[in-house]
Amino acid sequence: MNLKAPFLFLTLLLPTSAIPTTYSAADYTSWDSSDTIGSSKLGKINVPLDDGSSIDISRLDLVGSPRERGYAAGALLADDVIEFIDVKLNQYFSDELLNLDISTLPEKLQDILEPIIEKGAEVAPEVFWAAMSFVWEKEKSFVPDAILEEMNGMGEGICAGLTSRSGDECSAVEMSLKIKHINMLPELIRMACTAFGAWGTATPDGNLIQLRALDFGGGPFANYTVLSVHRPPPPSQAFASLSFPGFVGVVTGVSQKGIGVSEKVWMTYDKRSIQPGSYDGLADVLVIRNILENASTKEEAEEYLSNVDRTWSIWLGIGDYASQKFDLVGYKQDSSTVYTDSTINVETGQDYIQDVCYVDKHPQPSHATDLPELLKSYHGNITFTAVQDIVQKHQTGDLHWASYDFEARTMLVAIGRIDGEGKYGEDGVVWQANNRPAVMFYLDDLWNGV
Ligand SMILES: *[C@@H]1O[C@H](CO)[C@@H](O)[C@H](O)[C@H]1NC(C)=O
Ligand SMILES: *[C@@H]1O[C@H](CO)[C@@H](O)[C@H](O)[C@H]1NC(C)=O
Ligand SMILES: *[C@@H]1O[C@H](CO)[C@@H](O)[C@H](O)[C@H]1NC(C)=O
Repeated sequence: MNLKAPFLFLTLLLPTSAIPTTYSAADYTSWDSSDTIGSSKLGKINVPLDDGSSIDISRLDLVGSPRERGYAAGALLADDVIEFIDVKLNQYFSDELLNLDISTLPEKLQDILEPIIEKGAEVAPEVFWAAMSFVWEKEKSFVPDAILEEMNGMGEGICAGLTSRSGDECSAVEMSLKIKHINMLPELIRMACTAFGAWGTATPDGNLIQLRALDFGGGPFANYTVLSVHRPPPPSQAFASLSFPGFVGVVTGVSQKGIGVSEKVWMTYDKRSIQPGSYDGLADVLVIRNILENASTKEEAEEYLSNVDRTWSIWLGIGDYASQKFDLVGYKQDSSTVYTDSTINVETGQDYIQDVCYVDKHPQPSHATDLPELLKSYHGNITFTAVQDIVQKHQTGDLHWASYDFEARTMLVAIGRIDGEGKYGEDGVVWQANNRPAVMFYLDDLWNGV
């Protein structure tokens, strides 16, 4: 929850540190033959590191209809889903209650939450669950059937897969409802983040490099990172989502047709507030998911964004194979506007950089200059290595960041390391994803279930 983040400009204070190591995911991925449901399977990525820690990512390969994929995702990770949403997230909700600013929520929801909040910190989880339930009831009629099917399948799968409870102690209907509610969490919290795309004269071979850095703050999330690859039957397309157990919406992902999506909350600098929105539409994370699942070009995605029932304002960065270019879409309830490298500065107030479309981690228009300076210093030479240096120096991407190379068909991912309290190391910075080693994926491996 970054509403409380101080907007400091740290350019001069940054230590010069080495660029973190990159490991090839293929060398560290293992599949256990017992972890299969139908054609779907669960694998583990485990990269042991010199500092005694490791990079751990659960790898879900989900094949089949929406219901089958939901069921498999629930069953294969059942214990993780319960531990994450019932134990760790409830703890997180207790820690975050003080940061929950209910004055920005609809009045009806404030009326529901106020009496609960008065009961004190021990009912914090109840506050969050009541809010998520409220959002779900408002938004559920906008959710496509295929997603509902997937969520229902997931509830059934979780009950079937739990090792700690017997099947009759777990109601699939209740579990599905819980999954629906938890998927509304991103509608309640605002993520900062940085996004850019660089192509043409900005990259060595002219092809597109895209970054999505997620600045979320602490919490248990990093320890429950799941890379889910959905492989629906044709003509639908495969896509990968860097996510968490039980999450169906997408915050970070890329599709087989070559669409990469980046998002960040749209806060304005002057009022330090978010743009107006409401809960009468499709959740942002499901909008992003629809793009990955259904759009083949950024123009198709942009067309969809202008027609969908929008809720809360975000910046969406969209790149694709077809154009090898990247746009930023200012997405808010009353409009959806496409910006390119030559028009984005209307909103960001930052320098024009040829063939680079970017938005830094601050509220816009941004008063910082470090990101454009870094991008200019790498202009012509923006590669994964440059991306690693840039995220580190701009200090963006605490929970995770992902970068896509649209020519090499690779994805570079780094995950934050957290302590028992969900903090990124003693100073809250050293273990942020932007300071951590990265893992590289060949996207064709993901589309082939390898
Ligand atoms: C993608 O399109 C299909 C077919 O129109 C639809 O059933 C599905 O719900 C869409 N996916 C999402 C996530 O909206
Ligand atoms: C490009 O960047 C790499 C590091 O990412 C650096 O080693 C190399 O010298 C740079 N080349 C040019 C031409 O700037
Ligand atoms: C995250 O995992 C690390 C390594 O296993 C552990 O030390 C830490 O306590 C965990 N933190 C949380 C919040 O689960």
